[in-house]
Amino acid sequence: MLAEFVRRGYDHVVMTGDLIDTAVPADWAIIRDALVRHGLFEWNRTTVIPGNHDLIDLEEEMRFYHALNPAENARLRRVRDRLARFSEIFRPLIADNDANAGLPFIKVMRFGDISIAFVAVSSVLPWSGADNPLGARGSVSRETLRALLDQQVVQALDGSFVMGMCHHAYRVYGTDALVDQAFDWTMEFKNRDEFLKVMKSLGVGIVLHGHFHRFQVYRADDVTFINGGSFKYASERYGEVVVNEDGSWSHRFVNLNR
Ligand SMILES: [Fe+2]
Repeated sequence: MLAEFVRRGYDHVVMTGDLIDTAVPADWAIIRDALVRHGLFEWNRTTVIPGNHDLIDLEEEMRFYHALNPAENARLRRVRDRLARFSEIFRPLIADNDANAGLPFIKVMRFGDISIAFVAVSSVLPWSGADNPLGARGSVSRETLRALLDQQVVQALDGSFVMGMCHHAYRVYGTDALVDQAFDWTMEFKNRDEFLKVMKSLGVGIVLHGHFHRFQVYRADDVTFINGGSFKYASERYGEVVVNEDGSWSHRFVNLNR
């Protein structure tokens, strides 16, 4: 798929989390090396954010839980530690200088006459037996939301076409399949409306996300959410966003084999 992206001349590749499903940091190197091989491991060519399967190891959480060591601080620390390692291995895609790399981050890139900006957050909520039993519920931290409303961020994004990025789905509820409905709450993006409000205040028109294994496009309060779907379930399929110089844009799902 990466080779085909290069062949088709796309300017930028975005992966919205769950790059791996093991939460073993060494496995991120597989993704990194593939990007390197295709010349895509560059700040202005690729953007990645983490998902719950990158940052939460359910087996590890259960081990601590059964060892009667349910300390909340430790759960938070494990996610933060993995996030720090994620930021380190993907540092060249996050920071365009030697500054500390981490999430949230913004990118402002020029493509010809248009400036495109990304606002990327981690929406991974630490595991919790009662509140997040599958590690699949999401939330964006207060610190993140506050940081994004800083005037420096607002100024940096000014004049750009701005896209948001998070891992969790704004819309989980309301699918037709009963099997989905039974799991709705365990997948929920808890403070999605707070996140949406911040995205709107930053002029975000499109939010790219993943998590929920569906290729889908929907709107919430004037913002279009695009779920990139799942490589594991449809390894030929991806979403293509085209942004024009006048700020208009289009999106479609593409099948490589057609
Ligand atoms: Fe996920």
